[in-house]
Amino acid sequence: MSSRWADEEADKALRQKEKEEKARKKLLKQQKLEQQAALAAKKAAAAEEQQLASQRSRNDEDERPAKRQRTEEAAQDEPTISTSRYRPVQPTWRPCRHVSDYETLNAIEEGSYGWVSRARHVESGSIVALKHLKLDPSTTSQEGFPITALREIQALKSSRSHDNIVTLHDVITGSTPSTNDVYLVMEFVEHDLKTLQESMETPFAISEVKTLMLQITSAVDYLHTHWILHRDLKTSNILLSNRGVVKLADFGMARTFGDPMPPALTQLVVTLWYRAPELLLGADKYDTAIDVWSLGCVMGELLRNEPLLPGKNEVDQLSRIFATCGIPSSKTWPRFRSLPNARHLNLPSPPQTKEPTLRSLVADPTNLSTAGVRLLESLLSLNPNRRPDAGEVLEHPWFTEDPRPKSTAMFPTFPSKAGQERRRRRPTPQAPRGGEAPKLDAADFSAVFG
Ligand SMILES: Nc1ncnc2c1ncn2[C@@H]1O[C@H](COP(=O)(O)OP(=O)(O)O)[C@@H](O)[C@H]1O
Ligand SMILES: [Mg+2]
Repeated sequence: MSSRWADEEADKALRQKEKEEKARKKLLKQQKLEQQAALAAKKAAAAEEQQLASQRSRNDEDERPAKRQRTEEAAQDEPTISTSRYRPVQPTWRPCRHVSDYETLNAIEEGSYGWVSRARHVESGSIVALKHLKLDPSTTSQEGFPITALREIQALKSSRSHDNIVTLHDVITGSTPSTNDVYLVMEFVEHDLKTLQESMETPFAISEVKTLMLQITSAVDYLHTHWILHRDLKTSNILLSNRGVVKLADFGMARTFGDPMPPALTQLVVTLWYRAPELLLGADKYDTAIDVWSLGCVMGELLRNEPLLPGKNEVDQLSRIFATCGIPSSKTWPRFRSLPNARHLNLPSPPQTKEPTLRSLVADPTNLSTAGVRLLESLLSLNPNRRPDAGEVLEHPWFTEDPRPKSTAMFPTFPSKAGQERRRRRPTPQAPRGGEAPKLDAADFSAVFG
């Protein structure tokens, strides 16, 4: 005879089994419901997509947006959008803002690619810089919106988050009914380093040069790590606010790159005084090191309060480079002789070569420390592979030795030229307009130290 306890035990086990069975059924039911819901959502998304597609094609036929508007939207889109996931949601479209929304206060500067003026947004009262892009009608009529303008907009847009890169607020259209009439609306910055230095009685202190160089290099490092070459770094393209904050500007020559580098890049880039030797020698394969060379020229200029290598033409530029930074040899720069313009150059032979003059050009008048000279020498290495990358420059010991970089809050303020009148500065060479580097066949540099 089984005990009362045994009966109870069996009951308990049965109840437990029933409970488990119930829970399993509940779970199954829930899973089924979830599957049905997911299926319904998929169907709804497909229907919405179909509706959007038909609406898009209807829009294309009936309410085709103005060409300029479409081009601008295209310019603002990221280039790497995967078409399978990209949904052009119509409500984000808005009428293109117009230059008449702004009141021009004064002209600031006419550069090679645009006219820049200070302006006020009529509705909000905010002060901005307007850059009227100079779009070449000969290229625009055949090829649509010019690639240089697209690149400038794209590069500025993708760099918005960096403190040391000028903020692009908007791209607006001008008063003529043409896709060529385009303005960039940017934050207004009081100075550019070129105009500022020309009006300064004493050069920047070493601690100030360090603060400026750290900010400029940080912007360049951001560009390079985001696959953008600036290709026109120079003091007139580096803005400085009254709070001591650097804003890198003028992306008119910028372009994106990848790994490997795109083949056959434009040779004629970077304003002559800031142009790296490999570009002068006709290289069409180059990389971020060309911007690092320009950084060296900028550092020298900030220290000296005048341009470091103001060549009169390509040959003179190369002579100045060789005299200042030394003569390349197959040991220091193995690829040198294979560059198109280097094959027939007549160079002084090494035993007669004098000491390069970089140190005396920079260190003597400024008391630049040995670490500072080393940094400058590395930025201005003839062999591009020997130049540090921007990230390495930021870590250089020069920045941590005394005098320390001056805090931006302690930076002196200067009266703003751009606030009242056109910025006037001594004429300097303009950015090149692209194309091939001029040939320097058999140029004779044997007397660069003469
Ligand atoms: N956001 C800005 N705020 C104030 N001044 C600016 C601004 N952007 C440019 N500038 C001034 O206009 C000049 C020319 O602008 P930039 O963009 O360099 O055009 P360009 O391609 O013609 O050289 C600069 O050197 C600077 O003095
Ligand atoms: Mg410029």
